[in-house]
Amino acid sequence: MLLSFYLHIVLLISFTIFSFVAVSFIQRIRTENNLSSLTPSASVHDAQIELHSVANGTNKSPSNASVARIDESNLRENIFGSPKAKNPILDRLTFINPPNTVCIYPNNMENYMIFIVLSRAFNFDFRQAIRGTWGRSEKYKGYNTTIKTIFFVGIDDSVQSAVRLEQARFNDVIEIAIPESYAFVAHKELASLLWTRLYCPLARILFRADDDILMDTFLLLNFIKDDLNLNVKDGLYGWFRFNNTVHRGDRWAVTKMEYKPNTYPPYTFGVGYLFSNFSCQRLVNAANQPNHQIVRIGDAYITGILRDLAEIPFYDFKDLKFSYTFYNPIPCDEYFMNNPQLLICMSKLHTGMRDDPLEFYDVWDAILTKYEKSLSDIFD
Ligand SMILES: *[C@@H]1O[C@H](CO)[C@@H](O)[C@H](O)[C@H]1NC(C)=O
Ligand SMILES: *[C@@H]1O[C@H](CO)[C@@H](O)[C@H](O)[C@H]1NC(C)=O
Ligand SMILES: *[C@@H]1O[C@H](CO)[C@@H](O)[C@H](O)[C@H]1NC(C)=O
Ligand SMILES: *[C@@H]1O[C@H](CO)[C@@H](O)[C@H](O)[C@H]1NC(C)=O
Ligand SMILES: *[C@@H]1O[C@H](CO)[C@@H](O)[C@H](O)[C@H]1NC(C)=O
Repeated sequence: MLLSFYLHIVLLISFTIFSFVAVSFIQRIRTENNLSSLTPSASVHDAQIELHSVANGTNKSPSNASVARIDESNLRENIFGSPKAKNPILDRLTFINPPNTVCIYPNNMENYMIFIVLSRAFNFDFRQAIRGTWGRSEKYKGYNTTIKTIFFVGIDDSVQSAVRLEQARFNDVIEIAIPESYAFVAHKELASLLWTRLYCPLARILFRADDDILMDTFLLLNFIKDDLNLNVKDGLYGWFRFNNTVHRGDRWAVTKMEYKPNTYPPYTFGVGYLFSNFSCQRLVNAANQPNHQIVRIGDAYITGILRDLAEIPFYDFKDLKFSYTFYNPIPCDEYFMNNPQLLICMSKLHTGMRDDPLEFYDVWDAILTKYEKSLSDIFD
């Protein structure tokens, strides 16, 4: 008798929990539908993407529904000097989600830095790890610098609605209307520069990074504070390589039609390089020539060919180092502990092996330990 009483109570509780879960599930589906119907009806080819605007530098909160609407063609006309670019490729590099609330200028623009992170659409976990570790969008007190990390992803139909939700939540993901494929990395990289030029032209310092690197952000901030003066030595900072042969017959093959010379101009790894907003302007302008062709090899193209065309000088990161550890049993957190000048470590995450992104957190903890920092010392 007593047993069946308890049994009823248990059943009642289970039913209540079940109903609650079912109702919240249905509500979530409704919200998601609303969100996806909010995203522009614009197709990939629609150049007239309408945007809620911070167009000319007024800092409006993204949640302000009454902000003026402008369309991107005005911004494009401003930077190209005419409604159409001289190079039609640039007209075809477009952005899907309203991206213009992403760049919100702080009061001190001299020290506003954007991390331009090229990411694959389905790398949600990497992006989330970066937000919590080396790419924290914050004001770094001791360095008088504000960092904003912006992720650039391509189109992958299978995850697009999740990317929209992610953008709605974090306001830091730009969708470029280009399929997510290795063949288009150079286009994607150029598009990220174009976006920055259109929507965040006043950010003084730009740092381009991949989403699968591990980085000591404080070392970069120290370099900027102690060794960098863009007003005196403006250029592209990286780890330059010379006289690299243009491959004609392998996976990275580039035909003579695409690029005639047998060697590339000096170029640096795409994993991490630093430049100014003026260099960004010059790179975009260099691409905007009628017969300019994009060469598929992303880093050789942007930091070599385009940089050379734009006549942007190149400099090595003074003493900063990078390292690969994929053939090596030493994990990146140990590398960081033992190498004070190590800026970037690429673990097997970088070879496309999709381990759990725990490594981001381990490395960040090691770096905080190295500097004996706690988060409250770093951020306001
Ligand atoms: C922003 O743009 C609008 C229209 O283009 C213009 O009227 C306004 O003066 C601009 N505001 C600033 C702060 O430049
Ligand atoms: C929203 O924008 C309007 C007009 O630009 C402005 O008057 C208002 O103060 C803004 N509200 C918020 C919460 O930013
Ligand atoms: C931060 O940088 C700005 C612009 O370079 C400068 O005016 C200001 O004095 C700096 N503040 C500190 C605390 O260094
Ligand atoms: C670069 O940023 C600085 C500081 O915000 C600004 O004064 C300058 O006009 C910008 N340059 C370009 C080319 O946008
Ligand atoms: C690259 O090649 C050029 C011409 O062949 C040569 O003058 C130069 O020294 C080379 N640079 C390096 C760093 O090897």
